[in-house]
Amino acid sequence: MWTKGLVIQRIDWNEQLFSLRIKADIEPFTAGQFIKLSEMRDGKRIARAYSLVNPPDSDYLEVLAIKVEQGLLSPNLHSLQLGDCIEVSSRASGFMVLDEVPEGKHLWLLGSGTGIGPYFSMLETAAVWQRFEKIVLVYAVSYAQDIAYQPLIDKYKAQYAEQFIFQAMVTREVYPDALKSRIPLAIANGVLERAVGLEFKVDNSQVIICGNPEMIADAQRELEHKALIKNLRRKPGQITVERYW
Ligand SMILES: Cc1cc2nc3c(=O)[nH]c(=O)nc-3n(C[C@H](O)[C@H](O)[C@H](O)COP(=O)(O)OP(=O)(O)OC[C@H]3O[C@@H](n4cnc5c(N)ncnc54)[C@H](O)[C@@H]3O)c2cc1C
Ligand SMILES: NC(=O)c1ccc[n+]([C@@H]2O[C@H](COP(=O)([O-])OP(=O)(O)OC[C@H]3O[C@@H](n4cnc5c(N)ncnc54)[C@H](OP(=O)(O)O)[C@@H]3O)[C@@H](O)[C@H]2O)c1
Repeated sequence: MWTKGLVIQRIDWNEQLFSLRIKADIEPFTAGQFIKLSEMRDGKRIARAYSLVNPPDSDYLEVLAIKVEQGLLSPNLHSLQLGDCIEVSSRASGFMVLDEVPEGKHLWLLGSGTGIGPYFSMLETAAVWQRFEKIVLVYAVSYAQDIAYQPLIDKYKAQYAEQFIFQAMVTREVYPDALKSRIPLAIANGVLERAVGLEFKVDNSQVIICGNPEMIADAQRELEHKALIKNLRRKPGQITVERYW
């Protein structure tokens, strides 16, 4: 169930937001899934879920995390340094994977904060680029300094110029090319569709939403106003979600 993970790299995007690259032997996983990181404290196991940022074929695991000041585990993850160890679940889980997403022409990936992480795992696979005509990555952060993985985003912009659309939403300051709006409002008032140049449509859109649970609930409600419905195995739809808390 648990295996030893060795921290082999860390990136500090800002004072709270960081990525850990971990060497650990886990079972094969699918892009979009999460592992658990864990430690024993006073005889009790503390375990939390973290989406994998790395693609399935890499020989390391990578997570993007934020230090939640009052949190139980994330402050300790934030203090890990190269050579430190952390327990890792030997199997990844989760259904926010492309195999669960029905056919569509346009794939919208909506993420807030660290909820952007699993999309990079998907975008690092060849399959997603073969499957969708357009891929829209929408990344909501409070401040521009909270944007992680800008180099990867720039790589997709250059490599898939006709296919990839990136839209930053920087909610608490004005930032070039970013919308100063939360995701649900920008869906409701059409600002996001206009900025991106595509519409949310039942017959061509698939939307994945990941991160802050209130953002997800509100974004889902706004998409439902546009006739999109939650994707269920027994009743396929257009909206697939993963709540982080
Ligand atoms: C399926 C799944 C995947 C997840 N993937 C990630 C991930 O890739 N990266 C990540 O940082 N967290 C992720 N989380 C959240 C993570 O499991 C922890 O909850 C988080 O690291 C905080 O842990 P904690 O013990 O410090 O605080 P907790 O006691 O678990 O959380 C305290 C509070 O912190 C806030 N919070 C929790 N997670 C976040 C977050 N990611 N961003 C902003 N506020 C948050 C919420 O208000 C929460 O109630 C995921 C959760 C789930 C269920
Ligand atoms: N980011 C930091 O610099 C920072 C600093 C100290 C501590 N922290 C810790 O990290 C946590 C915050 O992390 P985060 O900033 O990555 O995630 P977040 O609070 O989920 O914010 C990420 C993005 O989601 C938006 N959002 C928040 N609530 C929403 C809602 N109900 N509906 C729609 N959109 C919503 C935010 O907009 P708004 O900006 O409008 O809220 C922001 O654009 C805090 O709980 C705190 O413990 C973060």
